[in-house]
Amino acid sequence: GNSPRRDSNGRALLGGLALSDLVRSGSIRTPSYVYDLDAIAAGARELREAFGNESHLVAYAVKANTAGPVVRALAAQGCGADVVSGAELSVALACGVPPLSIVYNGVAKRDDEIDKALGAGILSIQIESVEEIVRVAARARALSLGRGARARISLRINPALDFEALETHANIATGHDAAKFGIAQDDLPRALEIIKASPEVELVGLGHHIGSQIPSVPAYRTAARTLFSLGVAVRAGGVSTLRFLDTGGGFGIDYGAGAVPKPGDYVRAALEERKAAEVDDTMLMVEPGRSMVAAHGVLVSRVVQTKVSTVRGTARRWLMIDAGMNDLIRPALYQARHRVVPLETNGASADFTATLWRVVGPVCESSDDFGVHALPDSPPEHVALLDAGAYGYVMSNQYNGRALPDEVFLRGGQIVTINRAKSQDDWVQERVAIQG
Ligand code: LLP
Repeated sequence: GNSPRRDSNGRALLGGLALSDLVRSGSIRTPSYVYDLDAIAAGARELREAFGNESHLVAYAVKANTAGPVVRALAAQGCGADVVSGAELSVALACGVPPLSIVYNGVAKRDDEIDKALGAGILSIQIESVEEIVRVAARARALSLGRGARARISLRINPALDFEALETHANIATGHDAAKFGIAQDDLPRALEIIKASPEVELVGLGHHIGSQIPSVPAYRTAARTLFSLGVAVRAGGVSTLRFLDTGGGFGIDYGAGAVPKPGDYVRAALEERKAAEVDDTMLMVEPGRSMVAAHGVLVSRVVQTKVSTVRGTARRWLMIDAGMNDLIRPALYQARHRVVPLETNGASADFTATLWRVVGPVCESSDDFGVHALPDSPPEHVALLDAGAYGYVMSNQYNGRALPDEVFLRGGQIVTINRAKSQDDWVQERVAIQG
């Protein structure tokens, strides 16, 4: 994987800034998520270029990182949004994503959320069950959207892929038939019949999302081929309103275990399949989250103490840091590995006498464990956990009475803003103030 850039003094850089400077000067506290907004924008530009002149929509999966500066940076690059709640929809709209570039996924949308989506006039509500079609039609009727205006919906198909073929962790695989997501292919005819009988709705798209962190293009390509042939069949069945085909997100990123394809490689495969299926008059939509933001964020943490314990004559080395599973839950939840690197090394080369340290956080859970990492013999004062820009802060919590981490946003070689977390004292007061 890509190790962080270092300056000639061996200091890890992000967005052109030495992270250790930011910590030592007191500009940022620990633990802090630090994001490079320029790199996020550049990645979006590169992904959009992979589409060439083809009609497309990059619907950024906002769930990966909901911070205003991130969503605005992507909106400024012409990205749309994939949202999964009324609240995420509000974030996307407020950050300048045009309603007609927003799709809304989710298996259990509430009526008030459906109403919000219909009211905002988003591109499409992605339907995940036959039952949901009836509910959306009922809400459209209740809102009486105005004469002739119909609720735009798309069907999220469950492609029922072989679980093993997805090559990803069980908790983030969605495209197999035991998953709660999407409409089973066998139910598609029933869904189409209900749509035909519901004048309140209009079918504008078909889509799927086979899972996250899909590490190879062939699985993505095969699924896309199936989706496009369904698109052909649906049209042949008389649906003339189909406007887009959505092959989902899930592009893998390199967490350090080895190279993965570039986001553009997944896109090019989907474009080829779309052409082969002769549905290239539809818009190709993708819903990437992780690949747009993960590599452009790090979690900066301070080493609180070390512990060397002797177990049956051998030394076990622990590096105890001030970030825990409450700040970054991916290792505990998915056995994910985020590289841990020192903010400072002796010299530019970043090669140091390596000792294996098990890096752990302060939370009282055995799974508060970031794994074993090669770090200098004399442990660093500060470390960065890499590739933390996606599913990091958004999944953080206050377990064990911990404060949420700060978020620091860099652009143009400067800190543009810091989202400072409430203090642990605030947490104490909030808990105690509950009467009863
Ligand atoms: N579209 C839909 C319908 C999704 O459910 C997801 C992710 C995406 C797009 C974006 O997938 P991405 O490009 O980010 O892989 N918290 C987990 C990942 C959960 C993904 C949930 N759905 C993690 O930290 O690995």
